[in-house]
Amino acid sequence: MKNQINDIKNRALGEIGKVKTFEEVEVLRVKYSGRKSELTNLLRGLKDLSPKERKKMGELSNQTKRVIENELEKKELEIKNEELSYIDEKEKIDVTCPGEKLEKGHLHPLTQIRYDIEEIFKSMGFLVVDDREVEDEFHNFDALNIPKNHPARDMQDTFWLKNGSVPRTHTSSVQVRFMENNKPPFRIIVPGRVYRNENSDATHDYNFHQVEGLMVAKSGEITVANSKSIISEFMKGLFGEGTKVRLRPSYFPFVEPGFEFDASCPYCKGEGCRICKGCGWIELGGAGMVNQNVFTSVGLTEDEFEGFAFGFGIERLAMIKYGIDDIRLFHAGDLRFLEQF
Ligand code: PHE
Repeated sequence: MKNQINDIKNRALGEIGKVKTFEEVEVLRVKYSGRKSELTNLLRGLKDLSPKERKKMGELSNQTKRVIENELEKKELEIKNEELSYIDEKEKIDVTCPGEKLEKGHLHPLTQIRYDIEEIFKSMGFLVVDDREVEDEFHNFDALNIPKNHPARDMQDTFWLKNGSVPRTHTSSVQVRFMENNKPPFRIIVPGRVYRNENSDATHDYNFHQVEGLMVAKSGEITVANSKSIISEFMKGLFGEGTKVRLRPSYFPFVEPGFEFDASCPYCKGEGCRICKGCGWIELGGAGMVNQNVFTSVGLTEDEFEGFAFGFGIERLAMIKYGIDDIRLFHAGDLRFLEQF
């Protein structure tokens, strides 16, 4: 039996010397020191020995078991240390290395300026609303006092869909939608996408954004002066305190009287420069007192209410604010442009 025990020990130590992974150590542990190990099996034969021999062999096998277990533990530690030094080597972190700069995304310049616009109007009590982009003729034209076959329809280049709908040519359609469902008094702005059937160039695009404004109350409560002061406050908020606003008579079927409004050029402060083409003013949008026909087409009683509306292009405001000379840059997806904002 002594030989057998020694033989087991030699084989065990030999095999333990060769293994390289925790899994292999575990296999050997089961084989040489577990409850079903060769050694345990051998010890079943102890009962057939004389008491003296039994004691001797018992001690020898216990001692052998300890030697094997020690070796297994030593091996395990060795593997662990090897792994740690490997990790040390491979995954060493040099805290003095300069960091890698992560590119952060940001909002598109048009979104940024839209948020700015919304903030300014919200601070004056305006609600921000929007509605559908594909409209019927009634909401885009008829209800806004632009009857069929009226030359005013030609003021806007329209994409007509086969079913007679139109991708809205202006956000004024939302004036109608809103008034169909809400009774005055109210003040709203409508930032949104609009579509025009025209060729694109540096200052025109077939797809751009407008902000519509509409403030309505009982007759006699709102005047042209109110509209001018609201538009002035807005322009000051966007272009700076010193900005001035002027109104020029103009025609839009859904307002009466109608205006176009200009802001003093934020670059030369009205002196005249390249941006304002030397005249000191920049044309920004249309405005006017809501035509009573618009009220009646949404079911409101004529002369009961009065209000003003205005509309301007968001791209145009952004071009002036940021000094951009080509409207097509906004939709070109060119990172060299977008990263400047
Ligand atoms: N809807 C007009 C346009 O697109 C702008 C406008 C809005 C003018 C409201 C007057 C009042 O040109």
